[in-house]
Amino acid sequence: MKVSVTPWRGVEVEVTVDSSKCQGHARCHALAPEAFDLDDDGYPVVTPNAATLAAADLNDAAAACPEQAITILP
Ligand code: F3S
Repeated sequence: MKVSVTPWRGVEVEVTVDSSKCQGHARCHALAPEAFDLDDDGYPVVTPNAATLAAADLNDAAAACPEQAITILP
């Protein structure tokens, strides 16, 4: 799924979780629950609240995914 968040430190970014890679480790949710909610099956749902996070926090959550399922692109 993809969610565009605007503004994000003045820059629109697109946060994407690749469902074909995600294995439900939920590290993204543990580090940034404001941005990554979990659905009933334990898989992440990117929320518009990602816009409230500092860039470093969002990047840290993406980097913590062992499947490299999260991308953050301008
Ligand atoms: Fe999935 Fe990675 Fe989060 S495997 S649940 S996107 S930490």
